[in-house]
Amino acid sequence: MSKVRVLPFDKTIEVDDKLSLRDHLLKNDFAIKSTCGGCASCALCSVIIKSGEENLTEIAFEEKQLLGNVFHITRERLSCQTWVKGDITVDISAHVSHMTKKTKVIRKSKSDQEALKENEENFEAKPVKQGGFKKPRAFKYDDEEQGE
Ligand code: FES
Repeated sequence: MSKVRVLPFDKTIEVDDKLSLRDHLLKNDFAIKSTCGGCASCALCSVIIKSGEENLTEIAFEEKQLLGNVFHITRERLSCQTWVKGDITVDISAHVSHMTKKTKVIRKSKSDQEALKENEENFEAKPVKQGGFKKPRAFKYDDEEQGE
């Protein structure tokens, strides 16, 4: 078992080499962005390796295609294509906003809820008007132009 220190939360999780880094992070309730589900095509799951890059698997061809050779500059790896073999420190700050995004919950007062219930009970379904608001005009035949 290896240890992964996850920044900016400063939490340490234990990982093995059976699952990818992304899978371990997801398993430990860290939300990692992804649209491809871990098949190396979206590049959204990239994380910054702060230390211990020697304890990771080699960069695969698919990963190089997506990220290029910028690892030595940005220290980014695709977490879905990375397996951990020793202790590392990883920064997932880019995914934090993804984690804290919450849907806005509108709460209504009890009196509003009661009023809504009453309205629903008293509501009568009216037939829905089909085909817009204007009646189609009758087609006018001009007898003189037809010449018959
Ligand atoms: S999850 Fe899409 S590239 Fe890693």
